[in-house]
Amino acid sequence: MKTKIQEKFATLFGEGGEMFASAGRINLIGEHTDYNGGYVFPGAIDCGIVAKIKPNGLGKVRAYSLDYDEFVEFGLAEEDKPEQQWARYIFGVCRETAKRGGKVEGFDTVFAGDVPLGAGLSSSAALESTFAFAINELNGNGIDKFELAKIGQSTEHNYTGVKCGIMDQFASVFGKAGSLIRLNCKTLEYKYFPFNPVGYKLVLIDSCVKHELASSAYNKRRASCENAAAAIRKNHPEVDFLSDAKRVWLDEVRDEIPEEDFLRAEYVIGEVQRVLDVCDALERGDYETVGEMMYQTHFGLSRLYEVSCEELDFLNKLARKMDVTGSRVMGGGFGGCTINLVKEELCDAFIAAAKEQFEAKFGHAPKVYNVVISDGARKL
Ligand code: GLA
Repeated sequence: MKTKIQEKFATLFGEGGEMFASAGRINLIGEHTDYNGGYVFPGAIDCGIVAKIKPNGLGKVRAYSLDYDEFVEFGLAEEDKPEQQWARYIFGVCRETAKRGGKVEGFDTVFAGDVPLGAGLSSSAALESTFAFAINELNGNGIDKFELAKIGQSTEHNYTGVKCGIMDQFASVFGKAGSLIRLNCKTLEYKYFPFNPVGYKLVLIDSCVKHELASSAYNKRRASCENAAAAIRKNHPEVDFLSDAKRVWLDEVRDEIPEEDFLRAEYVIGEVQRVLDVCDALERGDYETVGEMMYQTHFGLSRLYEVSCEELDFLNKLARKMDVTGSRVMGGGFGGCTINLVKEELCDAFIAAAKEQFEAKFGHAPKVYNVVISDGARKL
């Protein structure tokens, strides 16, 4: 990938330039908790985005995406928003940097990625973090890492319309090889947990399903949670976020909120606790408990939060049937991957069965990824 980027860069823009990279992410547990002020437990992975960048002194960006084989040029003012979705991420990062008082000079770039698209591995966060990091370095802005993650998050909010939490961009910026990171999304305190489950593997199975309207459904989930939190806050003013609420406090407002919002909130409150239980279990090396929590999360995401789908439920059920230690839908949902904690000796049989049975039922093969927990945003 690097060689191709370098060759194309030389053809389009000549000599010079520096290389930057960032990563996609997995999340062990803590789904849809980030925008509720709860915990998440992600890590950066060994696939991401690589970009070569050089200031051009032209006051505009000239960008070439190798994957889309497409060249786009845009100015740096708000009205210069490009049409192409991929270019909007870069444009958004430039705008959000500028809004924070950062300098953004025009630049030329060629970039490419190897995060599977639509798999729930945050290819967009990888793209945002690469450029947020690079623009910060190239312009000497000195913006701190949390703010770089927030630049990516605000890009999603303001330039793509997804009201996402901070998890993906945080993992992509802060990722460290060999470690998962537990982040408290309310206080932004975080802790690295070396993750080396001896005797187990993390296997991602991509249903290759991507549902239309996933972003509006995502925003709707968020609105339900905020509605439930607002109702609880009337009785318990200390509740800033839904994650601050006790389960019994939710029960108190059951009749005041739509049933749908109640179910969403019930899932979130359970999930916040599960992340803590998983951390304790990890410290004891108790992977069976970790796995059991993953199944509970899947149940919640499927039945209460309703962000799973038939294909993902099928993969989850198969994992259970084959005694896989843990399995659940990962990321925002509405398609994408399941993340599976699998005993090493069971891996081959599980993957073979998943491929065969999934294809027999749905007519297309799932994809399987073996990911390695890796570093996040960096200069190469
Ligand atoms: C998407 C969002 C994240 C997070 C997850 C669900 O990946 O970008 O902020 O909410 O969904 O945990």
